[in-house]
Amino acid sequence: MRKIETIHDLRSGLAPARRAGRTIGLVPTMGALHEGHRSLMRIARQQCQEVVVSIFVNPTQFGPNEDYQRYPRPAEADLACCADERVDTVFMPSVEEMYPVGETTRVAVTRLTEGLCGRFRPGHFDGVTTVVAKLFNIVQPDRAYFGQKDAQQVVVIRQMVRDLCFPLEIVTCPIIREPDGLAMSSRNMYLSPADRKQALSLSGALRWAQQTIAAGQRDVAALVAEMREQIASSGRCRIDYVEIVDADSLVPKTTITGRCLIALAVHIGPARLIDNVVVEG
Ligand code: PAJ
Repeated sequence: MRKIETIHDLRSGLAPARRAGRTIGLVPTMGALHEGHRSLMRIARQQCQEVVVSIFVNPTQFGPNEDYQRYPRPAEADLACCADERVDTVFMPSVEEMYPVGETTRVAVTRLTEGLCGRFRPGHFDGVTTVVAKLFNIVQPDRAYFGQKDAQQVVVIRQMVRDLCFPLEIVTCPIIREPDGLAMSSRNMYLSPADRKQALSLSGALRWAQQTIAAGQRDVAALVAEMREQIASSGRCRIDYVEIVDADSLVPKTTITGRCLIALAVHIGPARLIDNVVVEG
C-alpha cells in the first residue's frame, strides 16, 4: 500500500493502472475509520482492481461553530486499517494541496441541498460537492463508494455526477450499525457512556417507524410526532429534524407511498448524530 500526499504524485502513481485498463475505485473519507468505512473499502475491493481511499478532513464542509478543529485525526490507525483492507493507495493531501491560496471555485447542487441537513448546516453540501468533484477529477475513478448513512449526501452527489457528466458510477453501500443498533460514526467517540445509551433512541425510533409502517400506518404526521416524542423522552437532546421524504427527490411526504426516506438529526451531548431508514409504501 502506498501513501500519497500530492495531486501530482497521485496522478502519476495511477497512470500505469489506467493505461493497463484496470478499474479504479475511490472511497472518499475524512478518516477516523471504522467498520462503516471498512465496508465501503471491502465492496470497492470486490469490484475494482485498484482501490484508492482518500482521507481528508475537508474544512469547507464544516460550519464556523462545528467540529473541524476537534474532528479526530488518528493517521497511523487509519493507515493500518486501509492496509488491513488491502487498499492499494491512500491519498492524504494537506489543506493547502486541496485548497491552494487563491482558489475561488465552489460546486453547488441546488434544491436537494435545501432541506434536511442542508437547512441546519448552511454551506455544508457546497463543501462536500466541491471536495468530491475535486477528488473525482484528481483520481478519475470508474466507481466511487458512498454510505447510505449520509443519505442526503449520496442523493446530492448522484445529482452532481449527472449534472456535470462525471464519467463514473456511484455505488451506495448499506449502513453499518453497532450490535445494539447505533449507526457507526466517527462522531460517536464524542459520546459519554450516558450519551451513548441515549443515542439508541435514534435507531430505536427508526425501527419503531419501520415496524409501524409494516403494520399498516401511512400517516406521516402521526409517525413523526411519535418518533420525536420517543427521542425527546430519552433525555436532554436537541432535535434538528425528524422527516419523511421521497427517497429520490427528498420532497416531504404526507403519506407513506413509494420509496420513503425516514431521516433524522439530533444533538446528544457534544455530538450531532444522523441516522435513517428507507421504507417501501
Ligand atoms: P465520512 O464521514 O468520513 O464518511 C465517509 C463515507 O463513509 C461516507 O460515504 C459515509 O456515508 C460512509 N459511512 C460513514 N459511516 C457509515 C456507516 N455507519 N455505514 C456505512 N457507511 C458509512 O462523508 C464524508 O466523510 C465526507 O462528507 C466526504 C464524502 C468524504 C467528503 O468530504
